[in-house]
Amino acid sequence: MNLSVHLGRLVLQNPVVLTSGTCGYGKEMQPYLDLNSLGAITVKGLSLFPWPGNPPPRIWETKAGLLNSIGLENKGVERFLEEDLPFLEGLTTRVFVNIWGRTVDEYVAVARKLNEVKRIDALELNLSCPNVEKGGATFIADLEVLKRLVGEVRAATEKFLIAKLGPQVCDWETTVALLEEGGVEALSITNSFPALVIDVERMDFVFALKTAGLSGPAIKPLALKMVYDLVGITKLPVIGMGGITTAEDALEFLLVGAKAVGIGTASLVVPSSAIRVLEGIKQYLFRKGITDVEEIIGKVR
Ligand SMILES: Cc1cc2nc3c(=O)[nH]c(=O)nc-3n(C[C@H](O)[C@H](O)[C@H](O)COP(=O)(O)O)c2cc1C
Repeated sequence: MNLSVHLGRLVLQNPVVLTSGTCGYGKEMQPYLDLNSLGAITVKGLSLFPWPGNPPPRIWETKAGLLNSIGLENKGVERFLEEDLPFLEGLTTRVFVNIWGRTVDEYVAVARKLNEVKRIDALELNLSCPNVEKGGATFIADLEVLKRLVGEVRAATEKFLIAKLGPQVCDWETTVALLEEGGVEALSITNSFPALVIDVERMDFVFALKTAGLSGPAIKPLALKMVYDLVGITKLPVIGMGGITTAEDALEFLLVGAKAVGIGTASLVVPSSAIRVLEGIKQYLFRKGITDVEEIIGKVR
């Protein structure tokens, strides 16, 4: 059975990817699953400098998902290269690194540093974070800044470039055209959804920053529609994610046209979830007598 998927010039041995922020810097997951059996892992969003993130609480469970207010905490690119790269160099799976910045220049600086690292297969731009130069509006919601960001990052790196989208996109067609023209090579979607939870006993917001990002099964049908719509307006390969817990969930994303699928919150519940999803995809293909996973991609349009 051929499980490999082609994302333009990047080939994954299978379509199952761990999403950013839900698998640490890689080695945290090692006790729970064989990372080399996955299509790719995506390292936690890295910034130029270490970033402390938001005050607690940072996680809140809902009936069908999770709100997080991690606030992009990370150890910074230098410490990542020193402390985590050696482990990643021992892996054979694809390594994606999610990056973010408070300004365009910070994104560019991180991309430039990572460009020199052979082991890294792709950079994923987290475009759902606040732009401090524009009063905190997300990069993805400001087309002028987005154009400059993509252009400057593209000039700074030869790595396979993924843009990660979320519900903050205002004008899908214009945004996608801009990313395509700017040299982005794949789109991943979706990041978490801005959401709110109130502590009725304290009569206050649960999170210090009031809103937080909703992920997990609650967003799956929303994410699936986003993938379906996005596939209809782009020629770029799409990596679909949002609430995928089972192989059936993942198959829905592949059938509407995602070339690969991301497992996020499910790994926080059962760390080996991605393996279960991968095994389920194999069983499904076997049961259907399909020998190449790419045969089912986009079959439901
Ligand atoms: C705890 C946590 C941390 C996350 N950190 C990042 C991050 O650093 N960068 C990013 O682009 N997405 C981040 N995400 C979003 C996930 O990668 C994923 O896009 C989203 O949660 C939807 O997938 P899921 O429902 O399978 O979790 C984070 C999600 C969670 C739950």
